[in-house]
Amino acid sequence: MVQFILNEQEIKTNVSPGLTMLDFIRYNRHLTGTKIGCREGDCGACTILVGELKNGRLSYSSATSCLMPIANAHGKHIVTIEGINLDTLNAVQQAFAEEGATQCGFCTPGFIVSLTGFCINEATPSYDKAIDAMNGNICRCTGYKSIERAAATVSNTMQQRNGTSALQFAVDNRMIPAYFLGIESRLAALLNNAVKQEATGKKYVGGGTDLYVQQHDTIVDEPLNFLYDKSELKGISRHGNTCVMGSATTVTDIAESKIFKDHFKELPAYIKLVSSTQIRNMATIAGNFTNASPIGDFTIFFLALDARISMVNGETKREIFLKDFYKGYKSLDKQPGEIIEKIMFELPSATDLFNFEKVCKRTNLDIASVNSAVCLKMQDENTIATASLSAGGVGPVPMYLAKSSAFLLGKRVTAALIHELTDIVQSEISPISDARGTEAYKRLLLSQLIKAHFIKLFPALPLEHVMYV
Ligand SMILES: Cc1cc2nc3c(=O)[nH]c(=O)nc-3n(C[C@H](O)[C@H](O)[C@H](O)COP(=O)(O)OP(=O)(O)OC[C@H]3O[C@@H](n4cnc5c(N)ncnc54)[C@H](O)[C@@H]3O)c2cc1C
Ligand code: FES
Ligand code: FES
Repeated sequence: MVQFILNEQEIKTNVSPGLTMLDFIRYNRHLTGTKIGCREGDCGACTILVGELKNGRLSYSSATSCLMPIANAHGKHIVTIEGINLDTLNAVQQAFAEEGATQCGFCTPGFIVSLTGFCINEATPSYDKAIDAMNGNICRCTGYKSIERAAATVSNTMQQRNGTSALQFAVDNRMIPAYFLGIESRLAALLNNAVKQEATGKKYVGGGTDLYVQQHDTIVDEPLNFLYDKSELKGISRHGNTCVMGSATTVTDIAESKIFKDHFKELPAYIKLVSSTQIRNMATIAGNFTNASPIGDFTIFFLALDARISMVNGETKREIFLKDFYKGYKSLDKQPGEIIEKIMFELPSATDLFNFEKVCKRTNLDIASVNSAVCLKMQDENTIATASLSAGGVGPVPMYLAKSSAFLLGKRVTAALIHELTDIVQSEISPISDARGTEAYKRLLLSQLIKAHFIKLFPALPLEHVMYV
């Protein structure tokens, strides 16, 4: 049985735990304000809010309900467009109406729900955050300017919040109904009394953002095992210089982690390149590793950190380097029934240099044509002690560039060195021509991304010209 609160109503249901929240909302509860667009997480028409207790405090994030198994809603508050309606238009809906930010209206519930997610988030409100909250929503009619104006109106109101809690302020300003104020205690009571039935199937599901795109027709009837909310797979901690992450850590968990923010100064820029707010809230790192896409962004990120993964199968545990996980196209060093439990890596020190680059056909909400990351330990300002280079989209698996990394040991960074390096990189990769670009294009892209790493990491050196030769 799965138990949660849907808008104001408590739900106990025995439907298949793999059913998408979208299908439950529309076909079981007949709440048809949540729309079906792509069913692939791309359009945002199906956006809902998911409220959960974290350290006893209620916090909301957005999700694409087309990719969310209902099992991942257990003990949570699910909010659809109907759940934020008042007797007349609420303040977010009113802003959309006044700015002409809705035409055919198909995308509008998704936009309104995403923007409401911004309003009830405790982070300091700003216009940019309001826009970011809607970065997973697509509109085919309005041209976005009117939507941006509506977001400006809403964010101007939110910026008057000062010390008031976001939920209280949103209720006081007619953005959401007053029942939201009772949800924290209702969820605590529900979690105390609800008995979660653990699924024990052999197919593991994290956030579902790969599986439900690939298998949405069949997955609902399969025996599944849900990892997303397992407490032993959660959390990011630091032990000396080692960072240990639960495998169900999401991209948003990383974005919000103080440990990551302290050690990766450019983290917000990297995060912006990955999917959308809704998908980042759902996507786990182990899911990214295990999906084994040659262009998985966080796979490339952690390969450059030479991360290790601990695998568990019942009582049996073992640890391997992430780079050894990949045996061939979608072929992994993983036994049936084995899951990734934890991810471990050495945190870059203040003198280490790290960079991640990604090129895709469009800047936002797109998968990479080619991506790459590098981590350098320095002997002195310009001399490399050790290096780890990774690259995606240039072979059948996400690649740790072992020869290129070894070549850099003990070398001084110069334009000539970078040219030599790109030659070695080219000898290590084997891209193919496909929808993301021709082989020649991907080879060129990777060389340019390697050069970009060095230009960014060594701003004091005259390296810009390497881009053009
Ligand atoms: C619209 C959209 C945009 C996207 N954009 C990007 C992007 O920009 N960059 C990018 O890299 N990816 C992107 N993705 C892909 C996806 O979001 C990521 O790969 C994500 O990290 C997958 O994690 P998940 O938890 O959702 O995986 P799931 O779909 O739940 O699972 C994926 C695979 O991992 C397995 N698995 C999950 N957890 C474990 C575990 N602990 N141990 C062993 N096996 C496990 C599952 O069995 C399955 O085989 C996008 C997806 C969508 C839908
Ligand atoms: S229907 Fe398009 S994101 Fe879910
Ligand atoms: S108003 Fe028609 S898709 Fe956005």
